[in-house]
Amino acid sequence: MSNEADRTPPHLTLSRIARDLPPSGIRKFFDIAAQMHDVISLSVGEPDFATPWGVREAAIYSLERGQTTYTSNFGILELRQLISRHLDTLYGVRYRPEEEILVTVGVSEGMDLAMRAILDPGDEVIVPEPCYVSYKPCISLTGGVPVGVRTTMENEFRVTVAQLEAALTPRTRAIVLGYPSNPTGATMPREALREIVDFAVKHGLYLVSDEIYDRLTYDGAHTCVASLPGARERTILLNGFSKAYAMTGWRVGYVCAPPALLNAMYKIHSYTIMCVPTTSQKAAIEALKSGEPAVRDMVGQYNQRRRLIVDGLNNAGLDCHLPSGAFYAFPSIKRTGLTSEEFAERLLFDEHVAVVPGTAFGLGGEGHIRCSYATSLAKIEEALHRITRFVGKVSPNAPAPRRTVETAPTRAQNRPSPVKS
Ligand SMILES: Cc1ncc(COP(=O)(O)O)c(C=O)c1O
Repeated sequence: MSNEADRTPPHLTLSRIARDLPPSGIRKFFDIAAQMHDVISLSVGEPDFATPWGVREAAIYSLERGQTTYTSNFGILELRQLISRHLDTLYGVRYRPEEEILVTVGVSEGMDLAMRAILDPGDEVIVPEPCYVSYKPCISLTGGVPVGVRTTMENEFRVTVAQLEAALTPRTRAIVLGYPSNPTGATMPREALREIVDFAVKHGLYLVSDEIYDRLTYDGAHTCVASLPGARERTILLNGFSKAYAMTGWRVGYVCAPPALLNAMYKIHSYTIMCVPTTSQKAAIEALKSGEPAVRDMVGQYNQRRRLIVDGLNNAGLDCHLPSGAFYAFPSIKRTGLTSEEFAERLLFDEHVAVVPGTAFGLGGEGHIRCSYATSLAKIEEALHRITRFVGKVSPNAPAPRRTVETAPTRAQNRPSPVKS
C-alpha cells in the first residue's frame, strides 16, 4: 500500500466492488520488466508497427483544419457508414449506421457498455477461459457474476456446447465469445460457432462477441458471429481499430447491436464518455478508406513470426499448439515443473525475457505462458535462444532441444529488486 493510501482516514472506505476487483496480472510483469535492461518483451499485447502513415496524416490534417470539437455521441456519421460497409463487405452482416452502430473508446469501453446494458446484479455471464483480462471485471463491475468455463489445449481452447450446458443456470443472461482469442490464439470454426448460437437461441441468451482480432487469422477466414442464422438479434458485436490497423493509442472501437440494445449502450456512453476524440475518429475514417494494404502486410508479417515462435517453443521442449489467430502463442510449461508465475518470474530475472503467466487469464491458464509475437523476427529469435537455454536449465529431464542454440552471456546478474504492483 502506498504512503498516500496509508494516510486515508478509516471512515473513507472504498466500494466493495472496487476493493474486490483483482489487479490485472499482466501489469506486474510490465512493471518489473520496465526497470530492467536488455529485456526482450514478449509480454505486450499490441502491434509493434506504427499506425500506417496515411492514417496519421489524415489525423494531422484534421487538426490543421481545426476539427477539435465534440462529435455526435454516436460518433461521426461518415465513420459509422464506413464501419457498416466494412462489415457488410467482409462478413455480409448489415448494421444501420444511424441506429445500430456506436463508436466507442475501443473494445474496452464496448465491453463495459455491453455488460452494463444487459445485466442486473446477480445475473450470470458464461465466460470461456483463459480469456482477455477485462471480461470478468466488466461483469463484476455491474454486480453481475462471471461464470468461468475452463478450456484446454487438448481441445484447442474452444468452448463446447456441453460445457455451456453445464454452466447454465436460471440466472444466465449471456455468453462472452472472444475469438480469435487473447491469450490462446484460438479461433472458432463456423460450425462450432453455429452450435453456440443455437444454444443461445434455445436458452434466450445474449452473445457478447469480442472480434478485435478478426483480421488476424492465418488458417482460414474469420466468422463474424452476427452473420450466423439467429445470431444478429441477440449479438453485441465488439470490434475496433487497435489491432488490425496498429492503432492502440488512438482508442477507437465500435459496438454493433439491434436498435433497442444499442440505444441502452448509447445512453450510458453519452453520459460517461460523450464521444471518442475527434482526431481519432478522423484517423479511423482514413484507416477504413485506405488501410487495407497495410493490414494485409502486417498480417503477413505476423504469420511469419507465428511460425518461427511456435517452432522455436516446441523445439525448446515446450508443447505449443499452432495458434490460428491473434498474435499470441500459449505454450505449456508443465514439463518444467514450475508454476506459470515461477516460470515467468525466473525467465525474466535469469534471461531477461518477459512473458505473461497463463494464470493472468483465469481458469486453464496455470501451466501456460503467453508469448506475444507482435515483435520483430530478430527479437523473437533471440528470445527463443534464451527460453531454450532456460528450459534446459530448469528442467533437466526435459528432452534435449531439437535445434542447436547459440548461448548468449548469462544475465542472472543485475537483478533489480522486484517492484510491487
Ligand atoms: C481480446 C481483447 N479485447 C479487447 C482488447 C482491448 O481493445 P481496445 O484497444 O479496442 O480497447 C484487447 C487488448 O489487448 C484484447 O486483447
